[in-house]
Amino acid sequence: METVGLCHTDLSMGVGGAITDVPKILGHEGTGKVLKIGSKVTHVAVGDPVILSFTWCGDCSPCKSGAPGYCYEFPQGNFIMNDLDETYVLDGQKIDGKFFGQSSFAKIGIVNGPSVVNVKHLNLDADTLAKFGPLGCGFLTGAGAITNAGEAKKDESCVIYGLGGVGFAAIMAAKIAGCNPIIGVDINEKKFDLAKKLGATHVIKGGDDAEVSKQIKELTGGHGAELSLECIGGSRFVQNAVDNACHLGKIVYVGLAGMEDVISIPSFPFMIGGKKLIGCTEGNARPYEFIEKMIGWHAKGQFPIEELQKTYKIEDFQLAVDDMKKGNVIKPILKY
Ligand code: APR
Ligand code: ZN
Repeated sequence: METVGLCHTDLSMGVGGAITDVPKILGHEGTGKVLKIGSKVTHVAVGDPVILSFTWCGDCSPCKSGAPGYCYEFPQGNFIMNDLDETYVLDGQKIDGKFFGQSSFAKIGIVNGPSVVNVKHLNLDADTLAKFGPLGCGFLTGAGAITNAGEAKKDESCVIYGLGGVGFAAIMAAKIAGCNPIIGVDINEKKFDLAKKLGATHVIKGGDDAEVSKQIKELTGGHGAELSLECIGGSRFVQNAVDNACHLGKIVYVGLAGMEDVISIPSFPFMIGGKKLIGCTEGNARPYEFIEKMIGWHAKGQFPIEELQKTYKIEDFQLAVDDMKKGNVIKPILKY
């Protein structure tokens, strides 16, 4: 591994209890170089520069249909499970080292083949590749949710709940699609200037749901938003987005909530409004295609991810976590 981005999912999985509490190595936005390959791996060679993404089985029907984010093996491959093998053992204790197929908070890892996206043919210099770890998860999730799941269109009104790495990627993708207005909602006002710089036409301070609803309605001509993206994590925000969607409006749900979280929506307005609530994992993206698409946007100056990032030495891990939690940086990049 050469760099790894820090994402909210690392934090929610790190506190224990999110799925299981087994010892684990997190990290899932790695970049690096291939040191060795297994006998069945054909898409990379030793020495190739790579970006790491999520893993999938390749055999099930969603995988075969080109939707690897919905692989039936997704939880086993990407999340921390209890059924650990003997790959990583410390003092007799098995450790999960395959988080998102990669566990890139370790300097050297055994990475699943499908998680590895070869970028050799793009001839990226080292400094550029170092920025691209989050293209494998957080940025792919936000930009893919807008582009693929939300099918964002020119002049559609768009609301983005949560201005983290996911939400900011969504704002940039909404701008590329030509959405208007683009409204960002966050509880932390420190994010607002940058959100406006990167494409938000308006920002709303979150916290008071009724006030958020009122402002969204005002900014969208009274009927509500055509496209909304929930990237905070929880039913409360989904419910607010459904309430504030116009007739035929699309609501894409991305945030990671607790296992016990239940979405409860008034059924009558949902039905007569013809609203569409869409669950979305990993931006409905095929990493090997969508990462290259984002690199193309970046090269044209349309996806200025440097504005979101700050690089930390790996030893300063805790500082990076604290800065992200405070909103001082949107997307910390840890460098080995
Ligand atoms: N109202 C509005 N915004 C809020 C609220 C709230 N009540 N609570 C938190 N937020 C904002 C935070 O201030 C922060 O800017 O949500 C944002 C979340 O951003 P990050 O913590 O950086 O998370 P990110 O990595 O972008 O992930 C967002 O997507 O993939 C999932 O697990 C991930 O649920 C997480 C979500
Ligand atoms: Zn599969």
